[in-house]
Amino acid sequence: MTMKKTLALLAIIVTFLILQGCGGQQSPQESDREQAANDSPVSEEEVLFNPGDFEDPSVCGGCHGEIHQAWSGSMHAAAWTNELYQPDYLLAAQETDGATDVFCGECHAPVAVRVGQLPPVDGSEFDDTSRQGVSCDFCHTVSEVKEPVNVQSISEPGRLKRGPRGDTVSPAHDTVFSELHTDPAFCGACHNVRHPTSGTMVIDTYDDWLDGPYAEEGITCQNCHMTPTPGVGKNPGKSATIGDAQERDHVATHFFVGGSSWTLNRRGYEEHAQMAEENLRSAAELSLDGQVTANGLELTVTAENVGAGHAIPTGVTYIRKMWLELTVENEQGEVVYVSGHTDDDNHVDPDAVFYRKLFIDGDGNQTSKSWLAEGIGYDRRIPAGGSDSETYIIDAVGSSYTATVRLLYRTTTQEALNNHLSEEDLEIESVEMAKETIVIN
Ligand code: HEC
Ligand code: HEC
Ligand code: HEC
Ligand code: HEC
Ligand code: HEC
Repeated sequence: MTMKKTLALLAIIVTFLILQGCGGQQSPQESDREQAANDSPVSEEEVLFNPGDFEDPSVCGGCHGEIHQAWSGSMHAAAWTNELYQPDYLLAAQETDGATDVFCGECHAPVAVRVGQLPPVDGSEFDDTSRQGVSCDFCHTVSEVKEPVNVQSISEPGRLKRGPRGDTVSPAHDTVFSELHTDPAFCGACHNVRHPTSGTMVIDTYDDWLDGPYAEEGITCQNCHMTPTPGVGKNPGKSATIGDAQERDHVATHFFVGGSSWTLNRRGYEEHAQMAEENLRSAAELSLDGQVTANGLELTVTAENVGAGHAIPTGVTYIRKMWLELTVENEQGEVVYVSGHTDDDNHVDPDAVFYRKLFIDGDGNQTSKSWLAEGIGYDRRIPAGGSDSETYIIDAVGSSYTATVRLLYRTTTQEALNNHLSEEDLEIESVEMAKETIVIN
């Protein structure tokens, strides 16, 4: 029997034992939970290991110091502790009677699930390694991704670390070349989330990349997210300071920045936050075209996705907010039209042009609760390599106007901050991704 098969068999036995519990009569609630567990997409091969089987990132940091520093600030390190994740997770647990506890944890606390420390949902059984989200030893011991969705990945923790080289010698571990680690499907295992019962794609970053122009050109997630900054592709040096590390023309960086500059700043990682802002600014360009007609001023804003390998926004777009802010002034400098501005309480004009995705729940209402997603209720995003246009017809008399448009991005909504975080006067900031002004005569 192969190692993998043995582990799979073990998993079935362990799962069986867990489902059996202490025996005796089941309450209706318990059998509901069991049903939910059976519905969850976690495959039979999902293996329960022992605490300690996955090494703590600080062990790796002893030699891979720079990588450890970059990863520590990354959103991967905070995937469980993240203050925007926790309230959403606990609400899901409450509203589904625990059916999502392990499902969400599979991605946000992958080690904890694999070593059997989740549930309970509050993380009270977690050890230090489990708390550190998506960590070194989780990623570098994945041996196979069965399907790039809902973490259908096989873990084989142990002395053997899997990486992009294969020509390496390390005093601490064995190494082997893993093509999988250079493949976007490795990321897609988590950056593609399918609702287990309705089949709605909650997160579609991988599928979207696969269908787009970047996949065709062979430009991977790793090419953009594991390199220094937009426009700087190489990070020369050695990946380890102890042992016989070789000099490389590029050592894969582990900052994994997306757009979460607000959260990164809150967590005290300014360098990461600046990189995230730079990343956001590299993604989009705006152009404006306007003319005065009999109907008034006709203004067309075009937003182009010039830098992202997937739609912008991507990922949890139902939690993020991206929109157009438009200001039109007349010759006298008086503001004659606004759209997408924020009010005194930092809420965005609800009539703005929004780029995001929202779900539809069982009652046909729009929702940003991923666990209620029965389908897609709203989806307007700017495709990779593509653009989106909006024409504003502005009632105005005059012959000359100045129009300024900004594409803005928020990690979360002000409403969510007010609801979820108890701190007073906390304001979510808007990052300017692009800005353009024209004068129309
Ligand atoms: C005692 C020092 C030391 C420790 C501790 C250590 N490594 Fe390494 N590791 C190295 C050296 C040296 C290399 C070779 C680097 C090179 O030549 O490019 C390496 C290479 C690697 C590679 C690249 C493998 C390849 O061929 O692509 C990975 C992945 C890796 N280590 C992961 C880890 C992880 C995960 C941990 C913690 C569980 C860890 N390392 C702990 C020294 C160490
Ligand atoms: C989200 C998954 C993930 C996490 C977490 C992660 N890595 Fe990696 N790591 C990768 C991937 C993927 C590559 C290969 C990138 C490529 O092909 O360019 C890589 C590359 C490496 C390399 C080889 C670098 C090179 O270019 O020679 C080392 C060493 C390494 N990682 C160590 C670590 C250590 C140490 C940590 C924790 C501090 C860590 N990794 C955390 C996914 C991860
Ligand atoms: C085990 C699951 C898992 C794997 C594998 C994984 N990620 Fe992630 N990734 C996550 C989770 C969960 C988050 C969100 C953490 C949070 O914000 O709470 C995340 C966050 C990110 C972010 C930050 C997004 C932001 O909002 O700023 C980037 C960028 C990213 N991942 C890229 C990658 C790339 C590239 C790979 C492949 C090399 C990869 N990830 C592999 C689970 C994973
Ligand atoms: C051509 C470069 C490029 C490629 C390829 C690429 N990305 Fe991105 N990615 C970006 C840029 C630029 C942003 C910032 C814009 C944004 O956040 O929407 C971004 C943002 C993100 C975010 C943060 C989304 C958010 O705002 O919350 C995640 C997560 C992410 N990428 C994951 C991936 C994964 C996974 C892949 C591969 C399947 C990938 N990216 C491929 C450039 C790229
Ligand atoms: C298959 C993997 C996977 C599963 C399962 C999953 N997530 Fe995530 N989650 C991600 C990834 C990847 C990101 C980062 C996307 C981005 O930054 O745009 C993320 C980001 C988030 C964020 C945003 C955090 C931030 O930094 O702003 C929240 C909140 C969240 N997830 C909640 C949940 C909840 C609740 C569940 C269960 C109902 C869940 N997730 C299940 C992969 C997953």
